[in-house]
Amino acid sequence: MRDLGQLSKRHGSDKESLYHQYAKPYEQYLGSLRHKPIKLLELGIASGASIRMWKDYFSTATIYGVDCDLSQSGLVSDRRVKVFELDQTDEAGLTAIADESGGFDVIVDDASHISSKTIASFKILWPLLKSGGLYVIEDLQTSYDPVHYTSEEACVDPDGPPLPNGGLTAVQFCKRLVDEVNYDLSGNWTPLQREYWLGYELESVQFFNNICFITKGS
Ligand SMILES: C[S@@+](CC[C@H](N)C(=O)[O-])C[C@H]1O[C@@H](n2cnc3c(N)ncnc32)[C@H](O)[C@@H]1O
Repeated sequence: MRDLGQLSKRHGSDKESLYHQYAKPYEQYLGSLRHKPIKLLELGIASGASIRMWKDYFSTATIYGVDCDLSQSGLVSDRRVKVFELDQTDEAGLTAIADESGGFDVIVDDASHISSKTIASFKILWPLLKSGGLYVIEDLQTSYDPVHYTSEEACVDPDGPPLPNGGLTAVQFCKRLVDEVNYDLSGNWTPLQREYWLGYELESVQFFNNICFITKGS
């Protein structure tokens, strides 16, 4: 049985490549789900490489893929793969897919890598993730790259002020989620006042190089 790194290369995804080494952390989170009938949603299909990789990796999972332009993928929906042409911020469309699927066990954002869209997708999709589920944001290096992602969406200085549009980079947003994991204390005393709480009820946030894994408590 091939591991995820081998399957990434076999299908031509860059998840395990010269640029990214995502296979090992993905295996840590997903290895125990390999033969479970989970529902996985990936934002960003491109050629369809990662959708084929997920289908091959999981033996019984259903893979949902979303892209704003399906013309490159050559993918057609079948019993275990469902593809949709939508923007990653299309709340009504994403909610309809979640309703059809019964909710997602795993959500992967490998779409625009534009901070405002990455954050908007998280806000829409987090409630559609099942308890015990996993949300993954890939390619976070884009948060530091105003040349390609514009100074409205990225900032090279980690201690820089908020973006000109008043928003956060995707990394700044993920760092803010760390507060959500830590604000609470069992019992009545809550150090972080409710006015500062985003209310996502996260279990954990873990960063690896360019990628963040966020779990929902069960
Ligand atoms: C990095 S590629 C995806 C690669 C694929 N996940 C893989 O590993 O083989 C990014 C894809 O996101 C899509 N995309 C860009 N902006 C988007 C948006 N706002 N909504 C949905 N998809 C978007 C692009 O059309 C492109 O196909």
